[in-house]
Amino acid sequence: MKTFEEISLIISSELDQINWSKEPRGLYEPIGYVLSMGGKRIRPALTLMACNLFQDDVQPAVNTALGLELFHNFTLLHDDIMDRADVRRSKPTVHKKWNDNTAILSGDVMQIASYQLIAKTPAAYLKYVLDLFSQTAAEICEGQQYDVDFETRDVVKAEEYLEMIRLKTAVLLGCALKCGARIAGAGEEDAQNLYDFGINIGLAFQLKDDLLDVYGDEASFGKKIGGDILCNKKTYLLIHALEQATTESKKELNNWLNISDEKFSDEKITSVTKIYNQLGVRTICEDKMLEFYTMAVANLEKVSVSDIKKQELRNLASKLMSRND
Ligand code: IPE
Ligand code: IPE
Ligand code: MG
Ligand code: MG
Ligand code: MG
Repeated sequence: MKTFEEISLIISSELDQINWSKEPRGLYEPIGYVLSMGGKRIRPALTLMACNLFQDDVQPAVNTALGLELFHNFTLLHDDIMDRADVRRSKPTVHKKWNDNTAILSGDVMQIASYQLIAKTPAAYLKYVLDLFSQTAAEICEGQQYDVDFETRDVVKAEEYLEMIRLKTAVLLGCALKCGARIAGAGEEDAQNLYDFGINIGLAFQLKDDLLDVYGDEASFGKKIGGDILCNKKTYLLIHALEQATTESKKELNNWLNISDEKFSDEKITSVTKIYNQLGVRTICEDKMLEFYTMAVANLEKVSVSDIKKQELRNLASKLMSRND
């Protein structure tokens, strides 16, 4: 069994071998830029770790894993335009360093490169992987559309938010695990249990991301704290704050939601965070995160390989819950 660290090394050395020093520079340079800043690379790690549950050799799943990481990075380029985010991985976002058109087109070509890598999946599993990946990619777009739609909607229910984050975030983790398992010859039942593990870890992962967006440390998180508050993102925190608020705090919260003038950005972040704190929504969000984490652990239990082999995935899942990046 390979450790998470060993798996991470394989991924970074393979990613480093892809040549982005191609022409036109305006198209490929931003890709080299965003990939050189790293990131946690959990999606390709999940693919190789799922593969490694069923066989020692992870090489057959490497190209698929790289394709998924490239796809994830592509979504970040477009997401940062949509979310008006200036900082990612502690560096200026591509649309800030260059411009929107660059982030759009470099993102597009990254998506194509991700399909080219996924097309290198061993032939016996290619159709399966392509079908699942394409379905997942479309679901991510659906999730992103809901996420943006919800910004301007007054009332979003908690269940609607959870379905939105299942689509925008969780399905890619599920897909990564399922692909890795199937490429290693796992049966559909085991692959599905790993997919469900990925969904629940993904839901917990996005709740944690939303928490870090308010309560994280900018230097380690690598993104601007309060970005979701400025966009009126209907996060689990905001949804519960709107639900629990007294008449007075609800009025104050709604006032802030109507303010988009950048002049008041810092004040908006401070004030909304203060309301969250008064209402105790942080604990509600953390409890929900742990609920999904617990379900994920139960999904992993059901996978029919020896318990010792699951330890690395269990450790990773646990680390993701207490991360600060
Ligand atoms: C960021 O994903 C987007 C979300 C789904 C929250 P990651 O937190 O995995 O980002 P990197 O790749 O590690 O930078
Ligand atoms: C990210 O959600 C989902 C996708 C990129 C598909 P966020 O918008 O919360 O991710 P960050 O916080 O910008 O990384
Ligand atoms: Mg977003
Ligand atoms: Mg974003
Ligand atoms: Mg976020």
